[in-house]
Amino acid sequence: MARILITSALPYINGIKHLGNLVGSQLPADLYARYMRARGHEVMFICATDEHGTPAELAAAKAGQPVADYCAEMHGVQAGLARGFRLSFDHFGRSSSARNHALTQHLAQRLGEAGLIEVVAEKQVYSLADGRFLPDRYIEGTCPNCGYDRARGDQCENCTKQLDPTDLIDPRSAISGSTDLEVRETRHLYLRQKSLRGAISAWIDSQADWPILTTSIAKKWLNDGEGLQDRGITRDLDWGVPAQFEGAPWQGMEGKVFYVWFDAPIEYISATAEWADVHGLGEEAWRRWWRTDEGAADVRYVQFMGKDNVPFHTLSFPATLMGSDEPWKLVDYVKSFNYLNYDGGQFSTSQGRGVFMDQALSILPADYWRWWLLSHAPESGDSEFTWENFQASVNKDLADVLGNFVSRITKFCRAKFGEAVPAGGAWGPREEALLTDLSARVAAYAAHMEAIEVRKAAAELRAIWAAGNEYLQSAAPWAAFKDDPEQAAATTRLAINLIPFYAALSAPFIPDAAGEMLAAMRAEGAGWPGDVRATLSALPPGHGFTVPEVLFRKIADEERAEWQARFAGRR
Ligand code: 2FM
Ligand code: ZN
Repeated sequence: MARILITSALPYINGIKHLGNLVGSQLPADLYARYMRARGHEVMFICATDEHGTPAELAAAKAGQPVADYCAEMHGVQAGLARGFRLSFDHFGRSSSARNHALTQHLAQRLGEAGLIEVVAEKQVYSLADGRFLPDRYIEGTCPNCGYDRARGDQCENCTKQLDPTDLIDPRSAISGSTDLEVRETRHLYLRQKSLRGAISAWIDSQADWPILTTSIAKKWLNDGEGLQDRGITRDLDWGVPAQFEGAPWQGMEGKVFYVWFDAPIEYISATAEWADVHGLGEEAWRRWWRTDEGAADVRYVQFMGKDNVPFHTLSFPATLMGSDEPWKLVDYVKSFNYLNYDGGQFSTSQGRGVFMDQALSILPADYWRWWLLSHAPESGDSEFTWENFQASVNKDLADVLGNFVSRITKFCRAKFGEAVPAGGAWGPREEALLTDLSARVAAYAAHMEAIEVRKAAAELRAIWAAGNEYLQSAAPWAAFKDDPEQAAATTRLAINLIPFYAALSAPFIPDAAGEMLAAMRAEGAGWPGDVRATLSALPPGHGFTVPEVLFRKIADEERAEWQARFAGRR
């Protein structure tokens, strides 16, 4: 048994996330966590809301709420949606927690004491109308790179170029719209990442098994020098972790907070401590996951995220931990994803284009979305959600293949033998062939899950479901029943036994349907099939069951068209 620490990139607090956000981090992380638990490993699965920075302050202002209230409320909303999608976090924390304040300041202090933080005087945009500095998204203007006229101070949404507020052409305040701006000098803390470049580079080179997407992004940033510049880690904001605190090895940072990307990944650790607090456990309960001198040397740490997050997780966060010169656990495997597009374009929050998490659950249960999203995860390139494809996938894979198999065999059994596993007959060559096929497929499925090859795993699972259907079709117990009832009984017994077998294998993808299948078969204890032969006769003759409700309903053409129109967005 191994110990596996799993973190999903922390969703920003500023609003409900869309399905592209979900499939880029939280959902595949959940798939992996559920699989690893099913295989008997000890899992710690952590996520949280990312609550600091200008996005949070601006969203709160727009909602007319104090930022602390806004964040508390949105955390509740996001936690509810996570439950709705059956995301099985051990803890869903908040980066604004007391734990994260303390740990962020602790790590900053260590970095300062190691000589890795310096105070730098720099020029920043100050708004006379607003009486404040305008960091990051507080300022908008025209992109010097592509000419887009609503580029933000930290990045141009149109061409993705990373910007500095002072780069913008015709800048204006995002708060008041005022153009009465001037450049003033102010002092900020800088993390001297450049001096950690050698250590980070060696560490990345030692990661032989990372996915290409991850390594290529990490190396690009490292070698272009773009990513490992010394970087400002403080901002002129009220909401965040105060940069001036007792014991800080610098002066004059009153009124400033740490940059959101400095404190957010630290919350992975802090949230594990929050988990221990919630459960009334001591410090050692979380430290054994994170301190290599206190047990974490045995932990395998896997992170999930969208590709835009890779530089922060492969360069900046490791730099924070390494620079602290304390034995913190570093990530072992970084699983990153491309983007999911929506019906010929992009998801857009501002235009209400695409399906957001709350809307998805209001039209269909979580399993339908989980199956489509995971089986189309944007692994090797960007992928696209279309309603036609979603409808076809649900109707075919879930309703026709899996759902129909379960319903057909349980109804047949009830009609001919009653609601109990029938006795009589024995396995012949057809059953042995199915066993051989399934054994190989289960091994392949497990290998894809171990390797976090999400699409390949989904394809193999679909093939496992199809194999049962094909077996049933060719053994045709409804035809055999008259002339060879013994054979019909043996076929039915095996097919009924496939239901808990399918449930256990499918649970990481479709946990609710798996639960319903197990409950109907009165096989709640059925776990991962170790020995496939034994598993396929686990329910003995006489074992009672009930015919389950329809597991998956089909999506009609009219509904599909209606949803397509409803989520097309306004322009
Ligand atoms: O890109 C994002 O959505 C960020 N909120 C991810 C943060 S991940 C972690 F480092 F906190
Ligand atoms: Zn641009």
